[in-house]
Amino acid sequence: MESKVYAVDHLRLTFQKASPANLLVEAEGRAASSGWQNARLIPHHYSSPPADGVLGLDFLAQSPSAGSIVLPVLTHVHCHTVLSIEDPINFWGDGLDLKGVRCEGVANTKISLFDPQHGKCDLVVAADPLTGAVIPSFQRDIRPLFRDKDIKAMLAVRNLNLASHTEVRRHAKLIFERLEDGSMPCDGGWPQADLELFRAWIKAGTPP
Ligand code: HEM
Repeated sequence: MESKVYAVDHLRLTFQKASPANLLVEAEGRAASSGWQNARLIPHHYSSPPADGVLGLDFLAQSPSAGSIVLPVLTHVHCHTVLSIEDPINFWGDGLDLKGVRCEGVANTKISLFDPQHGKCDLVVAADPLTGAVIPSFQRDIRPLFRDKDIKAMLAVRNLNLASHTEVRRHAKLIFERLEDGSMPCDGGWPQADLELFRAWIKAGTPP
C-alpha cells in the first residue's frame, strides 16, 4: 500500500530556465521502518490557486507488504521529481506566481520558498504539520539574510544589532517597513522571497 513517509528531512529546489522551465524537487526523509520502496513525490490537485501560492506535494512510498519481516527503525528514503513549468510568474494564473513547494510527510512538512524572478530557490523553512503554515526561526532562517556589512553598517549608524534576535524582534515592524519600501539595505532591496520569509517570521510571533 502506498502512504506518506514518516518525516521529511530535506527539500531542495533547483530551477532550470529553459522553455518550458523545469523545477527539480529533491526530497529526503525517513520511513517508519525498513522495507519501504518506490518513494515518489505527488503534486496536489488544485481547483483554485492556494492563497499562499505554494504547491503541495505528498512524499509517498510503498509500505512493506503484510507479513513481511521489517526492522522497526526509521529508514532513509529519497526521491526527486521534475515539474515542467510553463511560466513561473503566472503559474497559478494571471500574475499569480509560484511561491514555493511544500513537501508533506506524516510527522512534519517542509517548505522551500521560491523566487522565480531571481531563480532563487533555496529557502527551506519548517511548517506547521496541521495547517502547513510556515514557521521560520530567527537563527536558522532570518539571521543568515543579514550580511556582515548590514550588521556593521546598522551598528555604526543606529546602534541596531541585526545579529541579535532580541533587537530584531524589538524593531521588527520598523525593519520590515524599511525592507519592504526598498530603502534598506542601502545598496539594493531584498528579493520578494526573503521579504515573504521576514513577514512570515513576524506573523509567527518572531520566534528565536
Ligand atoms: C538588511 C539590511 C539592513 C536593514 C534591515 C536595515 C534597517 C534599517 C532601519 C530599520 C533603519 C531606520 C532606523 C531608525 O530610523 O532608527 C535604517 C537606517 C539606516 N541604514 Fe540601514 N539597514 C540595513 C542595511 C544597511 C546598509 C548596508 C547600510 C549602508 C551602509 C545602511 C545604512 C543606513 C543608514 C545611513 C541609515 C540612516 C538613514 C535612514 O534612516 O535612511 N543600512 N536601516
